[in-house]
Amino acid sequence: MTVLTVENLTVAFGPAVAVRGISLHAERGTVTGILGANGAGKTTTLLGIHGRVRRSSGRILLDGQDVTGHDTAALVRAGVALCPENRRLFPAMTIEDNLLLGADGHGRREQRRRLAGTYERFGWVAERRAEPAGRLSGGQQQTVAIARALMSRPRLVLLDEPSSGLSPVAVEEVGDLLETITLDGTAVLLVEQNVHLVRRLCRTAWVLAHGEVAAGGPVADLVRTGAVSDAYLGRSAASRE
Ligand SMILES: Nc1ncnc2c1ncn2[C@@H]1O[C@H](COP(=O)(O)OP(=O)(O)O)[C@@H](O)[C@H]1O
Ligand SMILES: [Mg+2]
Repeated sequence: MTVLTVENLTVAFGPAVAVRGISLHAERGTVTGILGANGAGKTTTLLGIHGRVRRSSGRILLDGQDVTGHDTAALVRAGVALCPENRRLFPAMTIEDNLLLGADGHGRREQRRRLAGTYERFGWVAERRAEPAGRLSGGQQQTVAIARALMSRPRLVLLDEPSSGLSPVAVEEVGDLLETITLDGTAVLLVEQNVHLVRRLCRTAWVLAHGEVAAGGPVADLVRTGAVSDAYLGRSAASRE
């Protein structure tokens, strides 16, 4: 079942068009990849979906419902969580206060219930809940950032480069966590430059180049046809022929 459909998304920063006419979709209970070189438009695509930058065009559907007119707060209430690039925890705030931001707008009892669920799932987070988030390692901060996104009980998580700056072991741990969050049907749209992680987690992916979708489909096919390496080397398929 399709959770997210994006049709013809265009985002411009002044005269510079960062994302041009992007269409893609993500399915329930799966991790869908977005690959592409630096500057390809991956982050802008996620921000455009989440209403954090102005769209010049584009329709956004959630479980078939048109949510194009929703602002970010309404999209969060509708079940779309963003886990931003560079994790964006507040380093001086406690881990618990960072987590609570993910359940903003809910009553105190509901927030406590969700915190308890998070602590049950992540034992080490419970133990360190009163520590400043900035004291954690990169991998631990990524786990807390994902846990914070899950505090909103999303049906779709937009996840921007979770492996960035992490050790190989921490990348695998993030992969383990992402495998578990789709088990209840949650969909993940995963922006990654780490092709290994995308091959491990995603059945399908979209390759962005210069703000457009250059290819999309089963990850194995994208790798086999060279679409993935083309995107990283800034090559077009035509130039190879
Ligand atoms: N706030 C902004 N203002 C102006 N240009 C931006 C802004 N954000 C991104 N861009 C430009 O849009 C393009 C796509 O950027 P981005 O979506 O961050 O790429 P990626 O995440 O794939 O590295 C780049 O050329 C970048 O310089
Ligand atoms: Mg980016």
